[in-house]
Amino acid sequence: MSYLLHIDSSSLGADSVSSQVARSFRDNWDGPVVRRNLAASPVPHLAGAGIAARSTDPARHTPEQAAAAAVQDELIEEFLGASAYLFTVPMYNLTMPSVFKAWLDQVIVKDGTFGHADGPAASGRPALVISARGGGYGPSTPNHGKDFVVPALETILHDMLGLEVTSLTPELTMAPVVPALTHLVPLHEKSLAEAHQQARRQAGNFRGRVAA
Ligand SMILES: Cc1cc2nc3c(=O)[nH]c(=O)nc-3n(C[C@H](O)[C@H](O)[C@H](O)COP(=O)(O)O)c2cc1C
Repeated sequence: MSYLLHIDSSSLGADSVSSQVARSFRDNWDGPVVRRNLAASPVPHLAGAGIAARSTDPARHTPEQAAAAAVQDELIEEFLGASAYLFTVPMYNLTMPSVFKAWLDQVIVKDGTFGHADGPAASGRPALVISARGGGYGPSTPNHGKDFVVPALETILHDMLGLEVTSLTPELTMAPVVPALTHLVPLHEKSLAEAHQQARRQAGNFRGRVAA
């Protein structure tokens, strides 16, 4: 059996809500897990040498291109070795943490992970995105339509990497600590309880899909 690849991008460590919900998933996942904590160990941003390396014969790589290609190759090998994916990606300034975007830019490589004649190399593999956001972004709120994390990731992970994406977003995580939001604590607690429940359920669902 291959492994679950857990890519974590919260800077909040043990206090991270997305990581706590991910724990509910992992507690119900009995296979091997490879975890990459991008907040603790960020990958480099994609720079010119890394882009040039993609279209240059490896035998002609400059030392900078060779080093940049080695980073991409390691991350792509780790990505393609997985049979299922867990991404914990909180909302920072309406979008994903920059460490997660840097990881995406390193692994989305033509003829590596996408651009093959028969589709992305990881096509059809299951992925769970667990986000978390401090405010409320539901249909009747002023923030509705301003979440540029989950909709963006659903598109990128599916259209470019071929993953079958499910997402969970516990929200109003700031309600317990911001006095002006105290009245929203019950909504936060409901959202969080549902996310934990869904995470446990998805672990069972993923186990069945990977074993099939
Ligand atoms: C740098 C930073 C930016 C944030 N920006 C937003 C934001 O734009 N909207 C929002 O609702 N919450 C925002 N938050 C709150 C986080 O989304 C919230 O704390 C969430 O629980 C973080 O996920 P985590 O607990 O998994 O780390 C921000 C938090 C940080 C640290």
